[in-house]
Amino acid sequence: MPKQILKMTVNSRAVEVAVAPNKTLSNVLRDELNLTGTKIGCDMGTCGCCTVEVNGKARLGCLTLALECQGAKITTVEGLNQTTMHPLQRAFAECGGSQCGYCTAGFVMKSYCVLHENPNPTREQWKEELAGNLCRCTGFVKIYDAVERAANELREKAPVKPTPVEVK
Ligand code: FES
Ligand code: FES
Repeated sequence: MPKQILKMTVNSRAVEVAVAPNKTLSNVLRDELNLTGTKIGCDMGTCGCCTVEVNGKARLGCLTLALECQGAKITTVEGLNQTTMHPLQRAFAECGGSQCGYCTAGFVMKSYCVLHENPNPTREQWKEELAGNLCRCTGFVKIYDAVERAANELREKAPVKPTPVEVK
């Protein structure tokens, strides 16, 4: 199959790669762009390891053909800590939400996207949102502790909206 040129923005950087039409986004991120933080577990959409953000939404890289992402804006786990660790990454480390680490980038990226939509999920909402991400090591409680801790920190840091001044 002839390769086609794929242009996208990955972690705020414009990239251009020649890809075969059957290549998945996870393959291109890892093999062509050397962004190996995105993991491939099942490679069939059941574990969540390959989750990345595509145009503001969580997507499974193993079920996304790379060429579907023509012109897309993509964030991978490497894009979260370009200057300092993102609160989600720090919370996973501090709460013991990561052991072997294979699932961690997927959990972090899915949680990052969840927090765009809802900055204050309940534990039940977290369980629902993260139901497609599997971990064989932690037993999940520490993962829920981690995402709640990060969400709290991000809410505390969020800029306070100025109170509108009443004009008389
Ligand atoms: Fe994509 Fe498992 S590797 S969902
Ligand atoms: Fe090992 Fe989740 S930390 S699979």
